[in-house]
Amino acid sequence: MAEAIISIRDVCFQYDGAEKPAVDHVSLEIQKGEFIAVLGRNGSGKSTLAKLLNALLLPTSGEVVVDGVQAKGEDDALPVRERCGMVFQNPDNQIVATIVEEDCAFGLENMGVPSEEIRRRVDETLRAVGMEMYAESSPNMLSGGQKQRVAVAGVLAMRPKIIVFDESTAMLDPVGRRDVLSLAKRLNREEGITIVWITHFMNEAVQADRVAVMADGRLEMLGTPQKVFADTKRIEALGLEAPEMLAFGAALMRRGVKGLPQGVMTVEEMAEALWRLKSRA
Ligand SMILES: Nc1ncnc2c1ncn2[C@@H]1O[C@H](COP(=O)(O)OP(=O)(O)OP(=O)(O)O)[C@@H](O)[C@H]1O
Ligand SMILES: [Mg+2]
Repeated sequence: MAEAIISIRDVCFQYDGAEKPAVDHVSLEIQKGEFIAVLGRNGSGKSTLAKLLNALLLPTSGEVVVDGVQAKGEDDALPVRERCGMVFQNPDNQIVATIVEEDCAFGLENMGVPSEEIRRRVDETLRAVGMEMYAESSPNMLSGGQKQRVAVAGVLAMRPKIIVFDESTAMLDPVGRRDVLSLAKRLNREEGITIVWITHFMNEAVQADRVAVMADGRLEMLGTPQKVFADTKRIEALGLEAPEMLAFGAALMRRGVKGLPQGVMTVEEMAEALWRLKSRA
């Protein structure tokens, strides 16, 4: 039986002065060890939801429980943030120090972790994100993808059980994007860290265990990528595009390719399916 690490129960959040809630009666359980992608057009409430998971915002009504801790007041913010770290879109806003390893140590210093322990964790996390050779570099010298990996290290050093990535690949080039996604996938697979991956890239979402689609503050769709993206009409009505490989598969079938399996979503799956067809021919 899977175990929920995050429970969002009938949560609403309304910004001061706003006419309607940014998050509107959302309920969602996220399982321990899950990699869940959150999609939705601009303004659908994704970042607001992310901030509710991190106690950067507190629900107007309903409850959010993160690894057994319910964020109700300011006192709960620290224990919630120790459990659930957040990586934002722009690494320049997240990186605070002028030397990579100092940046990585920053959160730990604030938590009052002893200095030998800080040293150990900084070395360990910079290795985990593949940035150990840049420990003494200035973040300014790094590419966008490398900076984002340093931002991940800063979060990882706190040993969170959950990491929320809020469009953390949006500003990166394709190489940086791939690097950061594969880092998140590795942390999920190898360290068992639960990942909430907010993105507007469908090709990233198809790699998740489950996909949640938001529209107008509400959770409109939830399920495996196979299930969610199979409903292309609804996906398009919610302002999203079906993943490229689904459209590509449909185009191949229109042009007379027969025997392509249903629900091929990633480039790897497509390559394998076509390879099988070819070796059968
Ligand atoms: N600080 C704020 N004050 C008032 N309204 C806000 C604030 N931040 C967001 N909103 C509003 O709340 C709604 C949800 O915004 P949110 O940023 O959560 O959406 P999003 O899905 O993350 O969008 P994007 O894809 O552009 O990042 C929008 O209508 C937005 O205008
Ligand atoms: Mg956002």
